[in-house]
Amino acid sequence: MNIMSVEWRQEEDGEEEGRAPRTDRGQPRPAPSMFQWRKTIYKTVCLSFLLVVTVTVLQRGMAPSQFMQGQQQKELPPPEPLKTQKRGDTFSDTSTFWKSKNEKAPTKEEEEEGVTEKQAKSWDITTANCSANQNLSKVEWFKGLEPNFQQFLLYRHCRYFPMLINHPEKCSEDIYLLIVVKSIITQHDRREAIRRTWGQEKEVEGKRIRTLFLLGTASKEEERDNYQKLLDYENRIYGDILQWDFLDSFFNLTLKEVHFLKWLNIYCDNVRFVFKGDDDVFVSPSNILEFLEDKTEGEDLFVGDVLYKARPIRKKENKYYIPSALYNKSNYPPYAGGGGFIMAGPLAKKLHKTSETLELYPIDDVFLGMCLEVLKVLPVGHEGFKTFGIVKNKNSKMNKEPCFFRGMLVVHKLLPPDLLQMWDLVHSNLTCSRKLNVL
Ligand SMILES: *[C@@H]1O[C@H](CO)[C@@H](O)[C@H](O)[C@H]1NC(C)=O
Ligand SMILES: *[C@@H]1O[C@H](CO)[C@@H](O)[C@H](O)[C@H]1NC(C)=O
Ligand SMILES: *[C@@H]1O[C@H](CO)[C@@H](O)[C@H](O)[C@H]1NC(C)=O
Ligand SMILES: *[C@@H]1O[C@H](CO)[C@@H](O)[C@H](O)[C@H]1NC(C)=O
Ligand SMILES: *[C@@H]1O[C@H](CO)[C@@H](O)[C@H](O)[C@H]1NC(C)=O
Repeated sequence: MNIMSVEWRQEEDGEEEGRAPRTDRGQPRPAPSMFQWRKTIYKTVCLSFLLVVTVTVLQRGMAPSQFMQGQQQKELPPPEPLKTQKRGDTFSDTSTFWKSKNEKAPTKEEEEEGVTEKQAKSWDITTANCSANQNLSKVEWFKGLEPNFQQFLLYRHCRYFPMLINHPEKCSEDIYLLIVVKSIITQHDRREAIRRTWGQEKEVEGKRIRTLFLLGTASKEEERDNYQKLLDYENRIYGDILQWDFLDSFFNLTLKEVHFLKWLNIYCDNVRFVFKGDDDVFVSPSNILEFLEDKTEGEDLFVGDVLYKARPIRKKENKYYIPSALYNKSNYPPYAGGGGFIMAGPLAKKLHKTSETLELYPIDDVFLGMCLEVLKVLPVGHEGFKTFGIVKNKNSKMNKEPCFFRGMLVVHKLLPPDLLQMWDLVHSNLTCSRKLNVL
């Protein structure tokens, strides 16, 4: 909470000058009690301001992007309306919303209640009480491991964590394609770009497309409270966030995988296909729909950028380094790059069951490959998935060529400005000299 008040104070000092009544310019620093009191006033003013913004957004049905622009350009309505509102209500509302995550926001509960009538099943993990595995401290090879692997192994047995943000209603209808995107709390701009491009929820010829972002908690503790409040707010606007109470670290990506599979198994009975990918890729939903057209029901479809005989990386400097104490075979089973792949909904449910029989592996896409191996399902490689980069040469024109992107299903890696630009180019009247035919 401290960080929060300090930050807001700074914000007020900077941007909101002139709007909130200020009397203390140039005055000497007040005594602690006075300071405390002032902090409360600041907080109250800020909270009221935020509430007004929320109410305005909801009432006007403004697009959030408009709202964001408005905020930047300082075109928001002044906080006057507050006076006409019942003060009591205002404060109880704001304080409930901005309270710590332990106390659920009221709408979340309402949403869940509405659905539990129809759906008996729900996320059944309510406490995250999982302590480090003390057995390992006695093991010799464990002591020689790098700290991140030690950390991974100490908590490897902690399978599931409670949900902080849930959307049980998301899957209550028949969904043709569920798009799920691995994201982290700080990458708000990536989520925004995805919502405006390939993550748009829509219906194409009766096929429903829905999008969800999968998140853990902020990995830096000092950032957690601040970002959590922003995320809660983002979720209020878009309603497309699933969040679990585990640290969003690289080695916890497999946790994200198994949490999503469990979630899908509980809440999604009628999802035909799942696209799962990173938040820094280009995706063409129309090409995906075209690709899926001739797929039959009951097929164990798992398709992506598949590596058939990848070797575990033994160079310590590499991001994907794996000590042989963790994996001692010379090859991984076939697996699809986690940047973006498609699986049939029913197969995802089988994967959930299988995943519970295996020990977690720190690399999420390899872990899924291990599950597929147990299920004896071979992932299928497809030309239209370029999740390991398009061409080796980073400066190659191919990386910027819209005609190339137009023919693809997934391309790694595009950050928000490039993604927005490429999306517009691909959807403009392109004249391409030859049609890339991968579908
Ligand atoms: C968490 O687990 C520890 C040891 O397993 C136990 O002592 C403690 O009471 C538990 N705390 C809660 C809140 O369940
Ligand atoms: C630690 O060892 C004990 C005894 O072998 C075992 O019962 C327990 O499950 C182990 N703990 C973990 C977290 O693996
Ligand atoms: C994964 O998340 C859990 C729960 O927050 C945490 O205890 C653990 O250290 C994390 N693991 C890694 C490898 O970051
Ligand atoms: C590989 O690891 C497995 C289990 O971790 C172990 O049983 C086996 O002996 C190891 N093989 C080699 C060649 O080290
Ligand atoms: C793109 O082409 C279509 C028909 O081919 C045309 O109707 C449309 O106006 C064109 N749009 C632009 C921006 O040129």
